[in-house]
Amino acid sequence: MVCPADTTHSPAYGDFLRLDELLAIACVRDEADRTLFFAAHQACEIWFAVVIRHLESARAAMERGDGTEAAENLERLPNIMQVITQHFDVLSTLTSQSFDEIRGTLGTSSGFQSAQYREIEFLCGARDPRFLNISGLNPGERARLADRFEQKSLSSAFAEYRDARAAAGSPGAATSVERLHDALAAFDDSVRSWRVQHARLAEQFLGAAQGTAGSSGAAYLWRSTERSLFPEIFPQPRSGEPAARSANALS
Ligand code: HEM
Repeated sequence: MVCPADTTHSPAYGDFLRLDELLAIACVRDEADRTLFFAAHQACEIWFAVVIRHLESARAAMERGDGTEAAENLERLPNIMQVITQHFDVLSTLTSQSFDEIRGTLGTSSGFQSAQYREIEFLCGARDPRFLNISGLNPGERARLADRFEQKSLSSAFAEYRDARAAAGSPGAATSVERLHDALAAFDDSVRSWRVQHARLAEQFLGAAQGTAGSSGAAYLWRSTERSLFPEIFPQPRSGEPAARSANALS
């Protein structure tokens, strides 16, 4: 007879995942629509953290000269962005009335104040210093952002990797640089798709109304779709895209 594995000394599923703690602080005890709204934001923030770990890991690999590991980290990111983006599909099922009720309780709080989202932009190389001074960040978030602003960006790490390979003239160098270049472009595109879906959702619920952070709402988010995560590698606007509107405004 095959005995079940001895689990006496092995942490159980709930312990590994620290589910008691996680669910105690997660926004999952409210009525259904509010639970969806807040838990969706929390879930996205967990995924943003996963994205940040991948970007850090890709940057470290490039600095070590390990293009393969860097590419493996980056190539997963568009799939992660797809998962994050799908939260907008679920949120779009809220009725306008329910959305308006939830919005009425938000005050000036907004995803605009997501420090991790800005960390992703800063890590990649999109560094608009005006985001360092927005309201609604706590001191820890402000310090993290200031630190990211000074760190080496993925854009710089990539340029150094590319230049070192070119100087060494090593076999396969061009292929590995191209693979990384494509992976960065694919991530940039996947974040642009997130921005587009976000703008659509804001349009659905807000029409022409301002966002809770006081921006022009959907119009601000549409303009943000023209921003590049890697302005040094892919100067904005990316090839083939209309240069119609300025992507510089913070409102
Ligand atoms: C019904 C759902 C949502 C609506 C209507 C909405 C609307 C908006 C609006 C209008 C802004 C512009 C800033 C402002 O004035 O408030 C904004 C920014 C932002 N939101 Fe959302 N949002 C929604 C869901 C989400 C979710 C689920 C996330 C995931 C964390 C998110 C993350 C962000 C981020 C990161 C920004 C800053 C974007 C940037 O500056 O480029 N939003 N949102």
